[in-house]
Amino acid sequence: MTRFVFTCQAAHFDLTLFEFQRADGTFSFLQRLSEDVGLAETALAPAALAETVRKTPVIFVRHLFAVTDVLPRGADAQAVFAAALPHLSEELSVSVQTRFADGLPFDAGLTPGVSQRLAEHGFAVDVAGSRRIVSVFAAADAVYVGVGDAEENLTHRSGGEPHYARAGFGFVSRAEFKLREAAEVFGIDFAGIHAAVDLGAAPGGWTKVLAEQGIAVTAIDPSRLKPQIERMENVTYRQMRAEDFLKAFPDSRFDLAVNDMKLDVRQSTRVMDGFWPLLNAGALAVMTMKLPKDFSYREILSGLRSLSGYALLGARQLFHNRSEITLFLRRRDEMRKPEPKRGEKTGQGGLSKKLAKKYGNKGKRGS
Ligand SMILES: C[S@@+](CC[C@H](N)C(=O)[O-])C[C@H]1O[C@@H](n2cnc3c(N)ncnc32)[C@H](O)[C@@H]1O
Repeated sequence: MTRFVFTCQAAHFDLTLFEFQRADGTFSFLQRLSEDVGLAETALAPAALAETVRKTPVIFVRHLFAVTDVLPRGADAQAVFAAALPHLSEELSVSVQTRFADGLPFDAGLTPGVSQRLAEHGFAVDVAGSRRIVSVFAAADAVYVGVGDAEENLTHRSGGEPHYARAGFGFVSRAEFKLREAAEVFGIDFAGIHAAVDLGAAPGGWTKVLAEQGIAVTAIDPSRLKPQIERMENVTYRQMRAEDFLKAFPDSRFDLAVNDMKLDVRQSTRVMDGFWPLLNAGALAVMTMKLPKDFSYREILSGLRSLSGYALLGARQLFHNRSEITLFLRRRDEMRKPEPKRGEKTGQGGLSKKLAKKYGNKGKRGS
């Protein structure tokens, strides 16, 4: 069995359990370690667990690591180092990520202490893109240690929390971090993308991220972009609704569509499908799906299904997403025919009754 520590938004803890149970019949929840961190068990090996999260997808989990050792509460750097060492190989660079449960004193010496011991034993520590990650979660009862890689952990960021610097030319909005994070988490390669369309572009964060890659961006929004973004050489601003752009410029062609429009799921997916003819074969798309306050899981599933022109490559609630999730899509070669209306299947075999009632077929609304 694989024991693992997972992280999600505290408000969506139950929903994350629901998703794990739906995705993996061998999943079993063990203990809540903190507001946003849980301990669970599965028969899947760590790589298969990560693959299941990506493919199903399990949307609301942000980070996880497979536990290799459980140390007593208050374990120090030497104890963590000794636990991690048998799982490491000197040929592979390594980084150390430590986190502490709410209310526990933060031990600022733990990460440097473990890193220093690893360096003394000949490991390349904390190089960019370290191949192995020593993950430590100090909970009230014990210290959980795991050794894995970024693929298995779903992200190379500690707890799945990227902290991007606001420095640099023209910080536009927090929204720009959402696209940076999506590119990281989904491994989006912007090379080879020449023309992109940004739906709901104002004030211009996503447009800036793309334009800085040298991509020609058509930015559409009834609201204005920040002047420094509108002035960028490779940005064309269209002050209109995305729906109206379709009528005004039907011959445009793009390799990438990004959509952060403040619209409900139905309207937003309808606009995405409207842009399908304007996208080149194999084009990629990133969109946020805004979740209403009292959303149910089946609304998310039916929202995903309602995208006729796109295959789902990934879906995740990112660290920078608040009441929304982010989808990574690829344009289908042909639009799918609409499915006949039927009861939404949420695959709730083996679910606890409580979670199934809250999130499953019965359609009760979740958090
Ligand atoms: C969250 S903001 C986008 C932030 C942007 N991604 C950034 O990085 O700065 C949502 C935007 O969607 C725009 N919007 C809402 N409905 C729209 C529509 N039908 N067509 C185009 N834009 C729309 C709003 O005007 C608003 O500026």
